[in-house]
Amino acid sequence: MFAIISDIHSNLEALTAVLGDIEKRGIETIYCLGDVIGYGPDPKECLDLVIKKTQWCVLGNHDYAAFYEPTNFNYGAEQASFWTRDVLEAEQQNDRRNNRWSFLGELPMRRTLKTKLGRNTAIIDFIHASPRKPINEYIFPDDVYTNPIKVQVLFERVKHICFVGHTHLPGVFLDEPDFYLPDELGDVYPIVNKEKAIINIGSVGQPRDKDNRSSYAYVDGNEVNFVRLAYDFEATAEKIKAIDRLDNFHAERLRDGR
Ligand SMILES: [Fe+2]
Repeated sequence: MFAIISDIHSNLEALTAVLGDIEKRGIETIYCLGDVIGYGPDPKECLDLVIKKTQWCVLGNHDYAAFYEPTNFNYGAEQASFWTRDVLEAEQQNDRRNNRWSFLGELPMRRTLKTKLGRNTAIIDFIHASPRKPINEYIFPDDVYTNPIKVQVLFERVKHICFVGHTHLPGVFLDEPDFYLPDELGDVYPIVNKEKAIINIGSVGQPRDKDNRSSYAYVDGNEVNFVRLAYDFEATAEKIKAIDRLDNFHAERLRDGR
């Protein structure tokens, strides 16, 4: 069994709740799809937990923004990146500061795992955004209707299974192309040998599908299980509001899940 988390966005309350839930299920292996930081109030604490608890992590656009530069960010997201960078830089303890920067600077764009899942062998890619542009291309559910060619071209880059985050919208894309919400699948997608899938696991720290609960997934046998988990978003929102350089919108959207 392994769990996959993504888009934590410096939300410590959400990350703590999700890690607790994963532990309760007896799952010891956790992979992270990036965007550990950005938007939220606790970048240091979230980085430390991801470094300690996950097997590995790939690079998200907000991790890239803090370490390198923000690209195509709106004003609020850009300001949050610069604030995050300042917080990481202001750490007084050298080893802690260097450890966090090294982690961010060494994040790969993708990881691939070949593994047995139940009776099947699966080749699984782990990418933040898309198989074509690993850190910044959005694959939206509507793309299957408005831009099916795009989705088919993306599937040409997928060997079998590809886990992504980035849009903060959980669900499963098939190469027909088609898209299924977790609800429509009873929150379970079975991985089979002949079917390619791009699976978005949603966001731990900033869900955007009008459901304010944290989203993550775990794989048990050949089944991908989608999980939603309530957390204390009011506490995170209050922390954001207390920091002048973080836009209040980042707090409000946590309540609405948008
Ligand atoms: Fe994100």
